[in-house]
Amino acid sequence: MPCVRLFEAQDWHGALALESDMRMHGVSAGGDPKLCLVPICDHPYRRESPLLGPTDLGEQASKEIAAGLNGILADVFTLNLKTKNFHWHMSRPHFRDYHLLLDDQADQLYAMTDPVAERVRNTGGTTLRSIGHIARVQRIKDNDAEYVDPSDMLTELREENLTLAARLREVHGVVDEHHDIASASLIETWIDET
Ligand SMILES: [Fe+2]
Repeated sequence: MPCVRLFEAQDWHGALALESDMRMHGVSAGGDPKLCLVPICDHPYRRESPLLGPTDLGEQASKEIAAGLNGILADVFTLNLKTKNFHWHMSRPHFRDYHLLLDDQADQLYAMTDPVAERVRNTGGTTLRSIGHIARVQRIKDNDAEYVDPSDMLTELREENLTLAARLREVHGVVDEHHDIASASLIETWIDET
């Protein structure tokens, strides 16, 4: 008898608990041919994709949230490297102040990367795997110029931080749509920090 509704649980203990919960609410899993209980570990989709994390957000939501968060992650890595680049290539007259300021900012950006990536995994997605992957989704542009004037460095970083803030706001809209409150809350903090 084909199952048209699927109830996922982490394991058979979870499946049994779910079945008893359904019975309590007058829903029968065993007797109703339209319902079946499948532990998430035995779900065919999960067997094909062992990296998928347990989430009740739904496949489409996971996909859209991962795309949004991975875009943020790519831009944060890009901005981190650009800030380090300017830190390394700073020149007079305010060398020491700007050099230290940019190092602090680069550290703060780097500290963002792990929570962003792990939020992608927690919402059922997979995250960036390479510099090539970053290049495919980054919006913030690289700056490979031989020389950049210090005041131009600061202006460029200010603009790129605004670009990042805009992307954070955009992704906040996506996670909000899927009622992913934890991602929304993290993004709000990152917008404030940016
Ligand atoms: Fe340094």
